[in-house]
Amino acid sequence: MRAALIETPGSPAVSGERPEPTRGDGEVLVAVSAAPIVPLDRLCASGTSYFGVPSTPYVPGVQGVGLVLDGTTDLPTGTPVWFATSAGMQPGDGSMRAVAAVPVHDVVALPPGADPVLVAALGLSAVAAWMALTLRGGLAAGERVLVLGAGGVVGQAAVQLARSAGAGRIVAAARGERSGDRALALGADVAVSLSGTEDVAELADRLRVGGPVDLVVDPLFGAPAAAALRVLRPHGRLVNLGGSAAETSPIDSSTLRSRSLRLLGYTNNDLTPEQRAGALTHVVDEVLAGRLTAAHEPVPLVDVTGVWNHAGDRIVLIP
Ligand SMILES: NC(=O)c1ccc[n+]([C@@H]2O[C@H](COP(=O)([O-])OP(=O)(O)OC[C@H]3O[C@@H](n4cnc5c(N)ncnc54)[C@H](OP(=O)(O)O)[C@@H]3O)[C@@H](O)[C@H]2O)c1
Repeated sequence: MRAALIETPGSPAVSGERPEPTRGDGEVLVAVSAAPIVPLDRLCASGTSYFGVPSTPYVPGVQGVGLVLDGTTDLPTGTPVWFATSAGMQPGDGSMRAVAAVPVHDVVALPPGADPVLVAALGLSAVAAWMALTLRGGLAAGERVLVLGAGGVVGQAAVQLARSAGAGRIVAAARGERSGDRALALGADVAVSLSGTEDVAELADRLRVGGPVDLVVDPLFGAPAAAALRVLRPHGRLVNLGGSAAETSPIDSSTLRSRSLRLLGYTNNDLTPEQRAGALTHVVDEVLAGRLTAAHEPVPLVDVTGVWNHAGDRIVLIP
């Protein structure tokens, strides 16, 4: 069976072969139709994540979309599903293969009509954006939201999900002009450039356009997060969910304490399967309503090595 394989931590995945999985207790077999490459897949495969160095070889892929192959009462054969795996975080194989054996509690049935490639592209990135806004960030209707890293899938989803949840002004901050233009098209009120400087004061001046914000969604950390804290209103919240810009951030104490700000962390790994399924279902409902999308590119799984480190639109592997 065709599969992507991590053979050496730190090297890109290669296309190879893996035995067909057999269905274990409490599992279903899924014929995989789409599996995205996300930052977590690369981080785990690098061997530098806080989950440790993975045992190799293994099939990467922390999520995928497909059709149930051998049905149960709750998940009949042919049901379209999204599923999560722990590949790279715990021993075992992930989604980047033709057939995956998945515990039932990691499977979410999809309504008919959802584009499997788009759902795969959004997946856990959109779940994180939604839960960072709501569960962790406590977004209330009318609040002003600043989305950092608005060019990434988390950022694209956060802009659209904040808009449909009734946010007031939405500021989208990204490095590239193209990302800013896209954020405006997706519903942001203002686009701010993060490019050309790591100076916190200068970035804060740019982000301050239009006044203070109530909530920051931060997949970047580094200088952009430190700058974003400076534009929060008193008691405002910043939810950090990633370190795409840097693992550390030059945050000053006076900024945090002078306005009693709340600096919050978020990980999808803390969700219960029910919370994750609820968030994923909301994401798919928004897709079906035409209110949520993300830039993505389908690529045959056999070409995985060439796209493993691709920076740009989300790559979705097609087995
Ligand atoms: N905590 C969780 O549960 C969770 C869940 C999903 C994702 N995440 C994390 O969230 C982050 C974003 O995920 P994603 O799915 O949106 O990834 P993505 O689609 O690959 O986007 C990454 C974004 O980071 C930006 N970026 C990279 N380096 C940067 C820098 N030095 N300065 C400013 N921007 C920079 C890129 O900007 P350009 O577009 O301008 O190049 C891009 O927009 C990742 O760190 C990921 O691990 C966390």
